[in-house]
Amino acid sequence: MQTTIFAFCGKGGVGKTSLSAAFIRLLSEQYPQKRILAVDADPAVGLSTALGIEPPMTLDDIRLRIAQSIDKGETADAVALLSEAKFHLLDCITERGNLSFLAIGRPEAAGCYCKVNAYLKQVLEMIAGNYDFVVIDGEAGIEQINRRVMETVDCLVLVSDPSQKGIRVISTIRDVASRLAAAKHCGVIFNRTRDGFDPDGIEGLPPVLAVIGDDPEQAAHDMQGESVFSLSASSPLYGGAKKALDALLREINDEAV
Ligand SMILES: Nc1ncnc2c1ncn2[C@@H]1O[C@H](COP(=O)(O)OP(=O)(O)O)[C@@H](O)[C@H]1O
Ligand SMILES: [Mg+2]
Repeated sequence: MQTTIFAFCGKGGVGKTSLSAAFIRLLSEQYPQKRILAVDADPAVGLSTALGIEPPMTLDDIRLRIAQSIDKGETADAVALLSEAKFHLLDCITERGNLSFLAIGRPEAAGCYCKVNAYLKQVLEMIAGNYDFVVIDGEAGIEQINRRVMETVDCLVLVSDPSQKGIRVISTIRDVASRLAAAKHCGVIFNRTRDGFDPDGIEGLPPVLAVIGDDPEQAAHDMQGESVFSLSASSPLYGGAKKALDALLREINDEAV
């Protein structure tokens, strides 16, 4: 199966989760026959609420369970361990129609976070091929790029607000990604911009896919804990996500011809 993996990266609070959720909704509605995997890779958690899907178990729960069974000397060898991990993996993938959902969870102890990232990378390598589209809602900052979690990503969607800090974060992510030769396609979504914001004046950025202003409907939705599926099609966030997704899909299709 030809799999296309999208990942959303950027500073905290810029709209990664809202936009990942909108991409996931758009893909699942535009391609009812295709399989889509949504991955919440942010320990701050949020994609589950945005999609209205509550997973019974997370990747970190599995990692912990396996680590505990090793500590107790219950697991015989590496082969048994691997098949146990694969078996448990199914427990944390929740399916809803053509949509599957997987979350890394919220590792509490120090040091666990990079372990769960390493685990996520392996899990993605193992299961991404079962889906047509994978959408990863990434952690804030650059760690997951640094740790090569995003190595298999096809489309890196860099999200920023108009702040210098937001723009610096996406520039750094872009630099690291190009050094690692990760992600063939890369674009920027500016979100929560004010009137008069002009991205043309900002140098050295990948192509700008969409510029989204303030969206009171999205903000109200989030306050009330409603899912992306009830956001109206006239919402600026939804419209901006559609424009960005269409541009990326066009680029991918052009390349395939
Ligand atoms: N265009 C927008 N207009 C108004 N509020 C927005 C917009 N985009 C996102 N938000 C709100 O901003 C907050 C942070 O967005 P979120 O998607 O959680 O960011 P991140 O995942 O990058 O931390 C949420 O409350 C969300 O509803
Ligand atoms: Mg988020």
